[in-house]
Amino acid sequence: MLASKTVVLGVTGGIAAYKAADLASKLTQAGAKVDVIMTEAATRFVTPLTFRAITGRPVVTDMFDLASEWSIEHVALADAADVVVIAPATANTIARIAGGVADDMLSCTVLATKAPVVLAPAMDVNMFENAVTQENLDRLRARGFTIIDPGYGRLASGKIGRGRLVETEKIIGTIQLVLGRKGDLAGKRIVVTAGGTQEPIDPVRVITNRSSGKMGYAIAEAARDRGATVTLVAAPASLSEPVGVEVVHVGSAVQMKEAVAKAVVQVDALIMAAAVADYQPKAPAKEKVKKTSDTLTLALVRTPDILSEVRGDFIRVGFAAESDNLVENARQKLVSKQLDLIVANDITQDVFGADTNKVILIDRSGNTEDLPLLTKRDVADRILDRTSKLLRDRSV
Ligand code: CTP
Repeated sequence: MLASKTVVLGVTGGIAAYKAADLASKLTQAGAKVDVIMTEAATRFVTPLTFRAITGRPVVTDMFDLASEWSIEHVALADAADVVVIAPATANTIARIAGGVADDMLSCTVLATKAPVVLAPAMDVNMFENAVTQENLDRLRARGFTIIDPGYGRLASGKIGRGRLVETEKIIGTIQLVLGRKGDLAGKRIVVTAGGTQEPIDPVRVITNRSSGKMGYAIAEAARDRGATVTLVAAPASLSEPVGVEVVHVGSAVQMKEAVAKAVVQVDALIMAAAVADYQPKAPAKEKVKKTSDTLTLALVRTPDILSEVRGDFIRVGFAAESDNLVENARQKLVSKQLDLIVANDITQDVFGADTNKVILIDRSGNTEDLPLLTKRDVADRILDRTSKLLRDRSV
């Protein structure tokens, strides 16, 4: 997603400036071309050499530096940028940008660019909460800037409050969200499910399965990066919430069904990657079950089959986790659940918790596409390629 994109990273003079080095590093590792512009104040906190070494590219600090190719053509970076990110953005820089000031390389670039601009403010809590800063941020929001509100916590002043620069992952997630706005799924609403449901036995124990949730989360992130508005209905998983995705946390299959039914209103596609338990304890105990006998028998009853029961005028994509007769069993599920596409997943391969997956895509016409072993993110994009095509075909 970030590969071959030009990210202009503006660094301004706050104590959080050192954290921009981590951002520059992660963006560079993700394949982006990162051109850093530092304000004069930023150079008091971190040296340009740090960013030069991390990005492997010249760093602009002075608009009148004749030795810098960018400085001579002072709007060249504004034209080259796919996205401009200012992290940290101080109250001073925010005010100057809101007022249209263009007296250094960063403010000139922001004024001249047609690329989306993302601001990650970081400052003292009182400066952030001051009405003038809030008014400036509102003005910028109204002009289409994306503002990532600072986090709450201990600030350099020793005070506790809102003003901390958000984590690098959140800034990168927001950059991906902004870059994806023109993607092939722009304007589409997609519901994705992920993770393994948990069916309670008593207040402390559950029946669950080995799904890590990685496949569903990867689909949600990939759909976001292609411009879709995404709701992720997530069964418990140890993964961080994707930025810019609405996440609805659920526990059991029954809860997942309710959440999915609510989420699919006016939706374009439902992709059910969750491993939904097929059975739940018939009567979960209200109190913790004690070990009073040598054996214990649990009575189980069927859970709702979400894919079969939640219907509507949207593309429906299911997964088939199979340990034998992969294609045949998957085809049967495609027919019985009346799906548009099914992702046949051979679970004899080591898929649980892995970052890769080996799947076969099967559509209604019986076409099968046997994909090689790919990262879950790549599998997600291949599923979305097909979903996107199904949506296009539907609208003609
Ligand atoms: N699914 C569902 N509700 C369930 C069980 C499964 O919506 N109660 C969905 C899964 O999310 C998946 C598809 O149905 O997209 C197939 O799931 P899978 O577990 O492979 O198949 P089952 O229908 O449960 O059949 P079986 O376990 O007998 O193979």
